Amino acid sequence: MHRTLTWIPLALFAACSSDAGATASSDILRRPPGLEGVELVTAADNPLTAAKAELGKQLFFDPRLSGSGTMACAACHLPEKAFTDGKALSVRDDGKANTRNSPTMHNVGYLERLYWDGRAQGLEANVLAAWKAQIAGKPEEAAARLQTVEAYRKSFQAAFGTGPSETTIVQALASFLRTLRSGDSAYDRWLAGGKKDGLGEAATRGYDLFMGKAGCVVCHTPPLFTNRQFHNVGVGMQAESPDVGAAAANALNDPAKTGAFKTPTLRDVARTAPYFHDGSVATLREAVQRMASGGLANPHKDPLLVDRGLSDAEIDQLVAFLETLTGSQPWAPPVVPQ
Ligand code: HEC
Ligand code: HEC
Repeated sequence: MHRTLTWIPLALFAACSSDAGATASSDILRRPPGLEGVELVTAADNPLTAAKAELGKQLFFDPRLSGSGTMACAACHLPEKAFTDGKALSVRDDGKANTRNSPTMHNVGYLERLYWDGRAQGLEANVLAAWKAQIAGKPEEAAARLQTVEAYRKSFQAAFGTGPSETTIVQALASFLRTLRSGDSAYDRWLAGGKKDGLGEAATRGYDLFMGKAGCVVCHTPPLFTNRQFHNVGVGMQAESPDVGAAAANALNDPAKTGAFKTPTLRDVARTAPYFHDGSVATLREAVQRMASGGLANPHKDPLLVDRGLSDAEIDQLVAFLETLTGSQPWAPPVVPQ
């Protein structure tokens, strides 16, 4: 991972301007403490600007983008649930049921392959697919609809020097998603302070387990708490015709990845129940228990995942640690143009 120093001016700026938790437009590009060592995955033809991100924020909450005119992206990606929806499985704009759980939008800008199975390469591709599939979007019709709104005409012009189109709508949404960065958690502050105090005894023990005996760190690697790889942990493999996940031809196209799914970030995990790609586990404790006991047996299970023989108290400590990964990036809802 290459590092640059370009974050320094931004971070200093944010430190001076982030008053009262409000998200002023100049704040939207701020990188929270804890993510200094990772770089966003950007698209060469879509450099990130505050104007695009602010516009994308409005579009994410605007049902005008959908086929029915009633469902926004935010219907399944709610800010108060770290941009998940609290449901095991959701229903799309076209009335069809999803087969996978809505993942968090936090730190998606750091992922090269997206969706649970990795089939989308880059955020722009993912956004276009989600627009068409989840909210039955018809890009030309939606662009025409936005063109009738004066405020949008102005902000597309300011952000892109042109009007709403499939390309500019996708680029604005992707830009917004790149700004949803979660850091500055109790864990980040504890680490930055040289681990002196502030995490609590149970969470500190949980941290030691996570990094050591419990073996979680191999896949849920800091600072993103994901290695951005795909593993089979056995979830859903008991079904008659299981979801093959990353093995699919349009994803990694690799039979060795049967039943493998993206290692999800554990940042904000206390706010993203229910868990796993199929939303099959209701509580964080149960999810941790499942992982610490080696997942569910099946012929493709990842050998990295084994029963760690943890006690109930140790499971509680792991949960206490994961609860310290809740970020504190300020959030202010957008004003969607009428
Ligand atoms: C009806 C619910 C629903 C709506 C509405 C919805 N999504 Fe999603 N979103 C999902 C589900 C379910 C997945 C996981 C699908 C999969 O992995 O196969 C997902 C996955 C994603 C991902 C991948 C995240 C990752 O970590 O891999 C992105 C990005 C995303 N959605 C963006 C959007 C955008 C942008 C919109 C609006 C155009 C949108 N979503 C609307 C349910 C929804
Ligand atoms: C071999 C890699 C690997 C190891 C080791 C591992 N995980 Fe995971 N973890 C995953 C993958 C992959 C998923 C998603 C699986 C799915 O949904 O099918 C996951 C899912 C989770 C989830 C659910 C998150 C969500 O948003 O749905 C939690 C919580 C979790 N792991 C905690 C842990 C803990 C705690 C440990 C250590 C005891 C651990 N994991 C060890 C790969 C791993």
